[in-house]
Amino acid sequence: MKILSINGSRRKQGNTEFLIQSILAPAKKKGVQVESIFLGDYSIGACTGCEGCSRSWECIIKDDFAQVVKKVDEADGIVLASPTYWYSVTSDMKRFIDRCYSLIQFPVNRKKWIGKYQGTEKVCVTAAVCEQSEASMIGNTMSLLTDFSKDIGLDVIETVKGLGFFEAGSIRADHNLLQKAETTGQNLFDLLKR
Ligand SMILES: Cc1cc2nc3c(=O)[nH]c(=O)nc-3n(C[C@H](O)[C@H](O)[C@H](O)COP(=O)(O)O)c2cc1C
Repeated sequence: MKILSINGSRRKQGNTEFLIQSILAPAKKKGVQVESIFLGDYSIGACTGCEGCSRSWECIIKDDFAQVVKKVDEADGIVLASPTYWYSVTSDMKRFIDRCYSLIQFPVNRKKWIGKYQGTEKVCVTAAVCEQSEASMIGNTMSLLTDFSKDIGLDVIETVKGLGFFEAGSIRADHNLLQKAETTGQNLFDLLKR
């Protein structure tokens, strides 16, 4: 069993990372192979809309994107998480998601697509963090991460939201939320174990 976390924040000790680590904790305790990456450590350029991936499942732009997709290919479970930047995911996360256009194909017409991971039983948890406590301030962060994951064929089993966290690491004081995140991580582990 392999689990990969993908973080859209550049704050290594940030709230998103602590939330991710709580989700990963149960699997780590069981000795599962877990890899955590920050998209900001990779050079991933913008999708150019060239349609070069339209028949190949592969993006033709040569940068670090292929390295990250290889990790997704090899993982059984994915934790995809981002802080909210202006009501949405960070630009690192958005560039990654846009480049994953190569992970869907339109075999018949433009109205129906298939995701690369459809039928693979790869499972996913999505997570988002924002500063404001009012739910609307998270914007589309959570729905974008979740809808995207479903589109590429991942089975999104749960979503975890952290509202009201500004300073890096302040989320650690919210024991209830981190406990909920651990429960989600336990569910992820239990599902992958079967
Ligand atoms: C450029 C920028 C834009 C932000 N936009 C929002 C926003 O629209 N809504 C919100 O509630 N918080 C917003 N925030 C606050 C972050 O989501 C918050 O500080 C979060 O805890 C950062 O997560 P991290 O520690 O994992 O990086 C913004 C922060 C930055 C730097």
